[in-house]
Amino acid sequence: MASDVVDDVVVGAGVVGLTTALLLARGGHRVVVVTAEPVGGGSSGRSLGVVSQLHGTAYRRLSAESARKNAAAYRAMNAAGFALLEDLLEATGTAHERHDAWLVASHADGAVRVDDEHLAASRAGLRLEKLQRSPELPFEHHGALRLRDQIVVDPARLLSALAIAATEAGVRIVERERVVDVRVRPKAVSVVETGQGEYAARHVVLATGTPILDRGLYALKTAAFRMVAVTGASTTELPVVTAIGPEGSTTASPTADGRLAAVGQAHAVGTGGSELHRADRVEAALRRMAPDFVRADAWSGQDYRPFNPIAFVGLLPRGGGAVSFASGFDGWGLTQGAAAGVRISRDLLGLHRPAWATTIGRRVTRPRSQTVGLAADVRAASELVSSFRRLAPTDLPLLRDGQGVVHRTDDGLVATSLTGDVLRSVAASCSRAGGIVAWNDLEGSWDCPVCGSRFDVDGSVLEGGARGPLRPVATPGAPGASSGR
Ligand SMILES: Cc1cc2nc3c(=O)[nH]c(=O)nc-3n(C[C@H](O)[C@H](O)[C@H](O)COP(=O)(O)OP(=O)(O)OC[C@H]3O[C@@H](n4cnc5c(N)ncnc54)[C@H](O)[C@@H]3O)c2cc1C
Ligand code: FES
Repeated sequence: MASDVVDDVVVGAGVVGLTTALLLARGGHRVVVVTAEPVGGGSSGRSLGVVSQLHGTAYRRLSAESARKNAAAYRAMNAAGFALLEDLLEATGTAHERHDAWLVASHADGAVRVDDEHLAASRAGLRLEKLQRSPELPFEHHGALRLRDQIVVDPARLLSALAIAATEAGVRIVERERVVDVRVRPKAVSVVETGQGEYAARHVVLATGTPILDRGLYALKTAAFRMVAVTGASTTELPVVTAIGPEGSTTASPTADGRLAAVGQAHAVGTGGSELHRADRVEAALRRMAPDFVRADAWSGQDYRPFNPIAFVGLLPRGGGAVSFASGFDGWGLTQGAAAGVRISRDLLGLHRPAWATTIGRRVTRPRSQTVGLAADVRAASELVSSFRRLAPTDLPLLRDGQGVVHRTDDGLVATSLTGDVLRSVAASCSRAGGIVAWNDLEGSWDCPVCGSRFDVDGSVLEGGARGPLRPVATPGAPGASSGR
């Protein structure tokens, strides 16, 4: 049975969900947050905690693919998100550090992209200092842009500060409940359904990375991608620096606990091979900036790239005005996500909407943006063309711990993994859109290149828009589907 009817149920407790819930509660709404993982379990908690308004070459892309006023709105949006998080950190006494943020080219060919970003950002009103070289960057670089006084915070502390502030404002946070359906009733009470219960509200906010309802097909309007991060020790002192190299861009940052971290190797979910190898490449890119870096940990996380270069924030199409959502932060969601919370909450509270929020809601896509969607579809389709072998019982012992393989059986394609010495098999594709999952060797998960959903080794949903688990099946030649061997 559904709980008491509240004004808003917010699904998701990342930066978007918690900011939205906090602002709604401060505006007088009764709010429940329902989240599949504990607070900090999503991408926000797996980020580097860089709260910065210098976003790689975002303005270069905006100027190529979008109207000029959209770039100005993007700047104002990020300024609003930055100010909100800065105020929160100061007001709650949450430890954070100030560092300059840099964009550099680590090879000569990248210098033109740095220049382009300088021009595009200045046109949008973001003043970046341009330098040829700087002693603050103790490695070879070709052109550099600096934005002073950005913020680095432990992401777990940031989310915890948001969650505590939201709770103090009256928000109820329900952790570890995955929403499996939303019965949307425009102009009435909608019901959010989890495995464990139901939550009734006049409005639902999907702050789930990608919206978990199919309406609007946002899974197809954004490309789900992953980035790989490493952290460890170094005596080299670095500011926050995004380096454009031949292998793509890598952002390095000092961490709150005195170490160095870096993130890079952006790649479409479930494509392009081993994430463990990608972690080695991120480490190599960081070593070019900090030669004595010694890696202690590696992980990966997910974000969504909008085919239009600005995030989608607002009402979900065909949701009858009862569902809001935010998605598509392209790897820089802390400031954008906080700003999304500003826009969504002001709309729901009936407050005046800042000019930037109106502009980004009406943005026009140039034809070039649409090709991003096409490219993503083609990439996903090309991954599916690979042929899958049949796995003989004698092949199973060849699987090493931490490995997974998709193989053909009489009943279709099966995904078999060996983790913690337990052999498990699940159907390799969902019943919804038929994407065939690929093994993620860094996170030990099955990742879908078509919709970007991710599944645990037992088939349960880890993230993304998948509505149900992958079906467990018996491993051919093994004594039992889920037993140790
Ligand atoms: C490795 C990495 C490093 C990054 N570093 C930075 C950085 O330093 N600075 C920066 O600005 N950006 C960074 N980003 C990008 C940034 O982390 C994201 O853009 C941002 O966190 C997105 O926030 P969100 O609230 O939309 O999603 P999330 O933080 O992923 O939150 C989604 C929430 O929804 C919940 N959820 C999902 N599905 C369901 C469901 N069915 N039912 C219930 N709950 C559900 C999840 O549990 C989670 O709580 C990084 C990204 C990665 C991958
Ligand atoms: S299409 Fe991705 S899980 Fe079905």
